[in-house]
Amino acid sequence: MLKEVKFFDTTLRDGEQSPGCSMNVREKLLLAKQLEKLGVDVIEAGFAASSDGDFKSVQTIANEIKNSRVAVLARAVKSDIDKAWEAVKGAKNPRIHIFIATSEIHMKYKLKMEPDEVLNRAVEMVKYACSLCPEVEFSAEDATRSKSEFLAEIFDRVIEAGARIVNIPDTVGYTTPNEFYDFIVDIRGKSKLLDQVEISVHCHNDLGLGVANTLAAARAGATQFECTINGIGERAGNAALEELAMAIEVRQDHYGLKSNINTREIMKTSNLLTSITGVQVQPNKAIVGANAFAHESGIHQHGVLSNRETYEIMKPESIGISTENMVVGKHSGRHAFKDKVISMGYELQEEELEKAFIGFKKLADRKKQIYDKDIDAIITSRESSLEDKYRLVRFVINSGNTITTTASVVLNSQGKDIEGISSAEGPVDAAFSAIDKCLDIDVELEDYSIQSVTEGTDALGYSVVKLKYEEEHYTGRGTSINVVEASIRAYLNAVNSIY
Ligand code: KIV
Ligand code: ZN
Repeated sequence: MLKEVKFFDTTLRDGEQSPGCSMNVREKLLLAKQLEKLGVDVIEAGFAASSDGDFKSVQTIANEIKNSRVAVLARAVKSDIDKAWEAVKGAKNPRIHIFIATSEIHMKYKLKMEPDEVLNRAVEMVKYACSLCPEVEFSAEDATRSKSEFLAEIFDRVIEAGARIVNIPDTVGYTTPNEFYDFIVDIRGKSKLLDQVEISVHCHNDLGLGVANTLAAARAGATQFECTINGIGERAGNAALEELAMAIEVRQDHYGLKSNINTREIMKTSNLLTSITGVQVQPNKAIVGANAFAHESGIHQHGVLSNRETYEIMKPESIGISTENMVVGKHSGRHAFKDKVISMGYELQEEELEKAFIGFKKLADRKKQIYDKDIDAIITSRESSLEDKYRLVRFVINSGNTITTTASVVLNSQGKDIEGISSAEGPVDAAFSAIDKCLDIDVELEDYSIQSVTEGTDALGYSVVKLKYEEEHYTGRGTSINVVEASIRAYLNAVNSIY
């Protein structure tokens, strides 16, 4: 009989802690809805006490998500737990996730607490959280560098206090599969109560072992996997959800595990995260990398043509890669476009659909073939709207390898045209600095990227711009066949999101 494992997705919390992956409330909600469709059992929506933005995101997600549990992180501190509960209490199935470090090094140098104090604090805070929230998870931070006797004791005490899920994180990605297996078996042997609750693991990827360690833990009795989409997360990231889900599906014969993940939603979720953050997946990344199903050598191609199973252990369709791609074009009307968008799994409000349709029509006028990825880019980048404070009217760039590049950008702000002129080494730099001259605020450019959405010289350019304004971070996206225009639109989109 297959044993069920739960997927706890922390893309919106641990994942968001990776450089360049910050998301705003709207983006987090979009991703949370997709995670729900993917079938994750628990969505960790954020760390409510860490910022107002995180609080708002947890609250918004808690109020919207119905099929997945919504978890919120809190330190073992009363004020964190109060904030966490305030943010998550609207959820159908809320969970407070409390953590405190248990390794010698963390207790001594970070917490500056004695082990007894850590134990008492953990028990007291779990009790307090249980008085507010029906479900409480406890994490022993840096568990893999902690003593198994201490972990067994603290786990028994927090379980007595009401914790129903106990997490054993490999916070610094230090352990190895065999060691982790033995460690969990050892803790289970020393603890009296651990077997009465859900054992969770949370493996970081510093040695590239996050997924392997998680699977070894499952063999030792863990039934909840904490992981992220595309493996994003603190430092080298977390165990990748898509790799875990496909490992247990493709090798069900070996692992004997099943889950609620709808693997056909994997590619879409991965693409959505990429377009929201602008952080690309490496081409050779397992499962979702661009080359994961590409067969380059003649021998492999020949084999696959004769029988796909010669070199393919899973079908692209099983993760939702559609083989039939180009179906809408220049002559498609609203209905065909709407059908296409629905078939791609989007649920857009009328107004959002209309904006996406306008973007699609503009693109169809300039580009021969429209692919699913183009539509993804249009939907996630959001067309500028009349409510935007600054809208692009026109721009002119004069550039070459023997002259200084100059840019003139005309924006419309509340009915008035404003022109900014600037010069710089390159066209994007000149255009951004021309825009800056039109703005009545000072923004700082933190990150900029441009990539082509599909192949070919007429491919859509997709740009992501990250700005900082008064200590807050803002992300904008823009699409156009003209890469400078895509960049300008992304910059303005980020500026407008400040307002
Ligand atoms: O890596 C870690 O230990 C964590 C905890 C908060 C679970 O992210
Ligand atoms: Zn972590």
